[in-house]
Amino acid sequence: MSDDEGITGHYARAGIAQTILTAVRASLPEGREISVADLAPADEFHIGGIEATRRFVPGLALKPGMRVLDIGCGIGGTARFVAAETGAEVTGIDLTAEFIAAADALSSSLGLTARTHFHCGSALDMPFGDASFDGAFSLHVAMNIADKGALYREAARVLRPGAVLGIYDVLAGPGEGTFVFPVPWAAGPQASWLATPGEMRAALDGAGFDILEEEDLYAYALEFFARAAARGGPPPVGLHLLIGEGFAERIANLRTNLAARRCGPWKFVCRRR
Ligand SMILES: C[S@@+](CC[C@H](N)C(=O)[O-])C[C@H]1O[C@@H](n2cnc3c(N)ncnc32)[C@H](O)[C@@H]1O
Repeated sequence: MSDDEGITGHYARAGIAQTILTAVRASLPEGREISVADLAPADEFHIGGIEATRRFVPGLALKPGMRVLDIGCGIGGTARFVAAETGAEVTGIDLTAEFIAAADALSSSLGLTARTHFHCGSALDMPFGDASFDGAFSLHVAMNIADKGALYREAARVLRPGAVLGIYDVLAGPGEGTFVFPVPWAAGPQASWLATPGEMRAALDGAGFDILEEEDLYAYALEFFARAAARGGPPPVGLHLLIGEGFAERIANLRTNLAARRCGPWKFVCRRR
């Protein structure tokens, strides 16, 4: 099995869009149309969900009509949020074919097919021309990709000079002890490559990006999970639909690793030189 098959095998599940749409429709009042916000608990696959997306997107200076790339778009939740909130035209690319099929189906059910476009492919070899995007973002993807230099060189290639790249990813922390698997992004260490902040800075600089801003969101992650635990009760219509079997164990292991400071989410905002 190749590395890519290991990644897609971890994420792929059949009929994702239908499972989510059925559950979300059942939770809404009769006759109410589904909105981007209704899908958010299930389609924003990163720490903090749509709350984190709302914090992250304004810093990217996205404007109506811009051509924007979502690298590792999953089932397209962030792409739809950005299209709906900023008026930008968003193209998503993801390695997992089942996620791209779900992204297309969910955008179609929200009437967003004209402003969101999805492609199945690798972030390391994207089917887009040089300088073809005005901006890009990537949320919780780099931890599945060993070669960060190759990832950000390919991002730099498809961005025009001056374009902004926003990254919200899980990095390695200074905590000791053995990292506990499975976590939401990997069943084991063969699919998890957490970079240190220093390695990220070097990869971004080497690929041709100036870092405009960075933020350690470790404390935010702890606080987000503490709030979720305090709410208690059954999960709302949400990520368990996307992650499926093992959801509770993977989230619990992520919280264990976070508490031991073995990992944590960071934000970078960079400009293509
Ligand atoms: C944790 S999910 C995050 C999805 C989405 N960015 C979000 O926040 O909802 C990680 C995603 O990265 C994708 N991925 C991993 N390696 C990739 C690669 N080499 N190229 C493109 N996508 C990749 C996976 O298929 C998966 O959809």
